[in-house]
This record gives sequence, structure tokens and C-alpha cells, in this order.
Amino acid sequence: MKFSFFPLLIFPLVTAAAQTGSDGTDALFQKNCASCHGAAWEGGKGGSLLRDRWKYFTDDDEAAGLARVIQKGIPEIGMPPFAGTLSEAEIHSLVALIERRRRQDRERRRNQPPPAANRIYRAGPYAFCLGTITSSPNEIWALAFLPDGRMLYTEKQGELHLIDPAHPGTNLRIEGTPAVWNFGLGGLLNVVPHPDYAKNGWIYLTYTEGHTSIWGRTRGMLAVVRGRIQDGKWTDQQDLFHLPDRFFSTSGDHVGCRLVIKDGFVFFSIGDRGSSTSAQNLASPNGKIFRLTEDGKIPTDNPFPNSDGPLAAIWSYGHRNPQGLAFQPGTGILWEAEHGPHGGDEINVIDRGKNYGWPIVSDGMEDHGGPPTSQMPQDGMEQPKLSWTPAIAVCDIAFYEGDIFPLWRGSLFAGGLHSEELHRLTLAGQAVVDDQIVLGGEGRIRDVVNGPDGTLYLVLNSPRGDESRIVRLVPIQP
Ligand code: HEC
Repeated sequence: MKFSFFPLLIFPLVTAAAQTGSDGTDALFQKNCASCHGAAWEGGKGGSLLRDRWKYFTDDDEAAGLARVIQKGIPEIGMPPFAGTLSEAEIHSLVALIERRRRQDRERRRNQPPPAANRIYRAGPYAFCLGTITSSPNEIWALAFLPDGRMLYTEKQGELHLIDPAHPGTNLRIEGTPAVWNFGLGGLLNVVPHPDYAKNGWIYLTYTEGHTSIWGRTRGMLAVVRGRIQDGKWTDQQDLFHLPDRFFSTSGDHVGCRLVIKDGFVFFSIGDRGSSTSAQNLASPNGKIFRLTEDGKIPTDNPFPNSDGPLAAIWSYGHRNPQGLAFQPGTGILWEAEHGPHGGDEINVIDRGKNYGWPIVSDGMEDHGGPPTSQMPQDGMEQPKLSWTPAIAVCDIAFYEGDIFPLWRGSLFAGGLHSEELHRLTLAGQAVVDDQIVLGGEGRIRDVVNGPDGTLYLVLNSPRGDESRIVRLVPIQP
């Protein structure tokens, strides 16, 4: 059946009904769209439908474009078609609901004081504000400093940039980085210079690579490479971790990925790819943390040496979606943060060969309101050092090592995506004894990094997904 759009007749009626809120359209959205576009319209793997600009259609008639996208979907990027599931009238009422919510959201933002660039935060004895280093209309995912103070950052859609904070306005896009599969939570993710970068020039990247079948469906998997930058170009690339095609999946869910390097070893994470049980299966790369030598070999003392090929790189398992990894200065202990389902975000200490329990034990509820997973500790499964319910959507973590806020030295900072909060965790040994929120409401906190100037730098993604900022905490003298 060909879809026909007749806005003149039906549209005004539906719009009126939607405005009364009595037509069940909100329930339609919750049932069919919220799992990807966010129950509070905040976005998820599908992005918020309240973003200022549409990415996938440019029709002058917005309602017609929306109706077409909902009806036909955009299968290559994971937006399903609803022509078979929803009637024409239901699609019309969803279009009206989306337009109404967008109008309300614009109105709300107009009436809001602008996010004060000079808002002053106080935390304990300290006061600070945020200073913006750079911003982008795209989703910045990670940042890292080079020893000379310049900064690299990734944009999820596949760009690596080099800027010099000392010379605002300089921004070099590095040519020739690997092609990425920018889908769902995948894309160009982490960037990490080697600890001896000044000597060897290596830069590590994690990203999702895509394979497109003859049927036109793309499947993706996480990959790790290292390379160098010369004259603004990515060169000398070495492939450190590529999995065989049978491990690729069409899911854009839970790909991780954070990477850290210490003492000649590289550790990185892959999430469960939306298939929770695979996190317990040592024959699957999903839901694991991996350990390789810094040049991509499998260390002989890894815990599962008899696993198939690259899977012998598995270091720990039973993870849902780890997006934070940090070595603790002084102890060398590897700390990790991972997203829980509904609630149950975790902070863990990662040990060789251990099982972290997902999906058998978790403090959260299974996605889509399913039954709760067991909250009872189980033999042979590690308990988190801290868990958050409701989830803050914990992303990156970093131990503060600077000297601008001396009392914070040694604290573990954790950024929340959904909560938009920066948490400072105080540790006593491996116990988390305090959880303090030091800032909030500035955007989804994607990355937390120590700066060479002794303060913390953050990557912030706007909740509407149309702006990212790299900011630093600027101390204010009392
Ligand atoms: C299985 C996940 C999923 C579900 C369910 C889903 N979508 Fe999407 N949708 C996506 C993804 C992924 C995108 C691409 C988002 C991006 O790349 O920013 C998308 C894109 C869109 C776009 C285009 C946005 C743009 O910027 O151009 C619209 C409109 C949209 N979805 C509406 C809906 C509506 C309405 C529903 C419910 C009827 C729905 N979607 C259900 C995953 C989903």
C-alpha cells in the first residue's frame, strides 16, 4: 500500500486531540519510540526528537518528512519502519505530538535563563566556573592531551581533531583516520596517546568498523588501532584488535569503549551489544574487558589463554556497557564504570579473570521494564564498589591528580550522561565512602580528563545532541 499523506483533513483534528492529551498519543510514543528516543524524549541510541535540526530529512513540509521517516524508517541507521505496525492515523497523531513537544521545548528554552557561562559552583572549600576551550555541532566523544599541551579529540561520526588551547582558533582535522561505522552508540570513540608519546609518537584509537553485506545490511564491531600523526595526516597505522566477521552484529547498542595503557599493556572494554547473556559467554567478545600488549599481542599471562584466537585477550567478563576505565595512581589498581540497565550503574575494581555478574546479578531492572535481575550477591561474581539507582548513566571516570584543588587529589571523578552530574567519589582503600556532586546541568558528561594545568577537563554533549563543548574547571579565588 502506498502511503498517502492528507494533512488538510486529518491533521488539524489530530493536532487538537493531541493537545488535549486525551488521545493516547503519549502512550503510542512510550510504547513504540521511547526505547530508542528516550522515555523523557532525551534521546538514547536514536537521538532526541527535540534536537533543533533534523539529520535525515530536509522537507520544507516538516510534518510530511516526519511521517515518511516514521512510515518507512531508515533501516541503514537502525530506525525501524512503522508502516506495518502503526495505522496512518496513529502515525499522523505521532507527527502532531512530536511537533507539539518541539514547540513546547523551544518555548521552555526561550524562557530559561541561558546556561550562564559564568555560573559559579561551590564544592567544599573550592569555588570554580567552567571555561570553554572549544565547541562543535557534532558529538565529541573523547579528549586527550599530548605532552606539549596540545589536545586531541574525537568526534563520534569519525573525525579526529588536534587543537592548541594556547592558540584559540587553531583546529586541525587529521586526515586519513579509519572509516568508522557511526551507528547507535558506535563510531570513533576513544583517543589515547602512548604514555611515552614524546619518544614513540603512538596514538591509540578505538572505533566501530562496519561490514556491509551484499544485502546492504551493515554489521559492526569494535576495533583498536594505533598510528602516528605527521603533517596533519594519520600514518603508520597498525591494527591491534580486529575480530572475525562472525562476531559482528547489526546492533548499535553497548559497544563500550574506553582504553587505558599501563606498563606496556593496553586495556579496553566492549559492552554486551544488547545481548546480555553473551556477557557470561567466554566464546563471545561481548561484555568483556580485554588486555593486549601495547603492540597488539596476547600476553602469555592472560587468564583465558585457551580461548579462540583474539578472545584470549579477555581479561574480565560479565560487564554490561563499560565506558569508564582508570588506573589509580599509586596503587596501579584498575577501576571501571559501567552502565546498568534501569538503575544499577556500577563502579568496579577490575581483577584478572573475574566475573562481574551481568546479567545474573545487578542492582538495576532489566531494560523495557522486565523482571529485576537478582540483587543478591552470587558466589564467583564480583560486587560493585558503588552502584547508582536511579542510574546516572555513568560514562568516563578519572582520578584527579592535579594541584589546583589539592583536597581532591586521589578522588575518583565520574561523569553522568543522563544525570549531567560530575560526581567526586572519596575512597578509603577500595571502599567508596563519599559521593559528592560537584556540578550539574551543563550537559551530558562524556569524558573526564586531567589537564596539564592541574585542573579537570570535561567533554559535554548537549542533551539535544546538537552541540558539544570541551570545558575546564576554572578555580575562583575566594
Ligand atoms: C530500535 C530503535 C528505534 C525505535 C524503536 C525508533 N527509532 Fe527513530 N531512530 C532510531 C535511530 C537509531 C535513528 C537515527 C538517529 C541518529 O542518527 O541521530 C532514528 C531516527 C529517527 C528520526 C529522524 C531524526 C532526524 O534527526 O532526522 C525520526 C523522526 C524518528 N527516528 C522517529 C521515531 C518515532 C516517531 C518512533 C516511534 C514510532 C521511532 N523513531 C522509533 C531508532 C529508533
